[in-house]
Amino acid sequence: MQPPDPRTGSLEVFAVCLPGVEHLLASELRAAGIAAAPEVLAGGVAFAGGWSEVYRANLESGLASHVLVRIAEFGARSLADLDQRGARVPWRDWLPHGTAFEVRAHCRRSRIYHSGAAEQRIHAHLAAQLGTASAAEPVRVRVRIHDNRCRISLDTTGTALHRRGWRLEPGRAPLREDLAHALLLVSGWDRRSTLIDPFVGSGTILIEAAALARNLPPGRGRGFAFEQFTSHDAALWTRVRESANARERAGLEFRILGRDRDAGAIAAARANAMRAGVAADLDLAVARLSELDPTGWSGRGAVVTNPPYGLRLGSAARLPTLYRSLGRILAARPVGWDVTLAAADRRLALRTGLELTSALLVDSGGTKIRALTTHAAGDSDRPPAPAPHPRDGND
Ligand SMILES: C[S@@+](CC[C@H](N)C(=O)[O-])C[C@H]1O[C@@H](n2cnc3c(N)ncnc32)[C@H](O)[C@@H]1O
Repeated sequence: MQPPDPRTGSLEVFAVCLPGVEHLLASELRAAGIAAAPEVLAGGVAFAGGWSEVYRANLESGLASHVLVRIAEFGARSLADLDQRGARVPWRDWLPHGTAFEVRAHCRRSRIYHSGAAEQRIHAHLAAQLGTASAAEPVRVRVRIHDNRCRISLDTTGTALHRRGWRLEPGRAPLREDLAHALLLVSGWDRRSTLIDPFVGSGTILIEAAALARNLPPGRGRGFAFEQFTSHDAALWTRVRESANARERAGLEFRILGRDRDAGAIAAARANAMRAGVAADLDLAVARLSELDPTGWSGRGAVVTNPPYGLRLGSAARLPTLYRSLGRILAARPVGWDVTLAAADRRLALRTGLELTSALLVDSGGTKIRALTTHAAGDSDRPPAPAPHPRDGND
């Protein structure tokens, strides 16, 4: 497979995401015009596109964690096959000499079962063409040998996309940025009305929210692995960024409020928001949950939050009381206000007594996190539940 012309060629692209987020990611990519016919698979979304779509997916997706492009595919029933075909891949067409790289192989239901041996073979071919430079962030080459078929992809992203570059102060129990993004998407928040997070921590949910409302691309503050690729088209990349910048909204005419009892958390949220370029959009202050008073709220709005849940924070014994208080306070909210909670412990969330339904179940590094929401209209705009056994992503 030769790299296609930067403007016209078609690549096989796979956007990786947290398990459970695939349908939301497909909708995001379709709505942005990045993928015309995205295919939902386990762990991500496959689509066809050129470099423009690869650049845009990296820059604009709030849900993807890596964007891979397929560079070779062949049958491989033995290490000798892998050697022979690996030698024929035109590596230099994809990565210039001197690029630091790292090979990761995964074997399943195949006669080649030793992933370490497969890695060595591919590594040797790459090293023969590119040399053996080292770097803190090598380009990742992914080799999948499933059912005796070998598929080789390059990671065009580098550091995972949820690391936007602004969260240098993570607080004590931060939510992943892509998960915060997903929570906002299923919450029903309309991006035009008041948003409150009473357990704001390092500010992740609200910083993502302000960026969503202002159309700031999630990847605006960081670099990407594709900038090192042989075919990198700097002019195209500039146009992609300029076109994203042109869609930005200058300021918000509604309020985004974050509260936390911990002054250190509020300081971290402020510093993170400053780096993210949304400090002026957020109203952050130290306050306990007991100071939240919904009787003064009016119009439409949303509470989207990630309350403490005891895996990492606080005394588990006090949590049921905290959730009951949260429920009692939010029960007084006016009509038109929805509540969405990120919950690792569903039973704890149900202590609120709020009528919550599950909008999303995400596997975040082994911890299952649900988005529980009162957003009643969700049945129509919520993504359908994933198929019971979707085909494996990078197959
Ligand atoms: C799970 S963390 C939130 C993490 C946040 N989503 C982030 O990404 O950084 C929960 C936060 O609730 C705060 N908190 C705990 N009890 C509180 C209370 N009674 N009132 C206000 N904040 C509280 C903690 O200080 C902590 O920052």
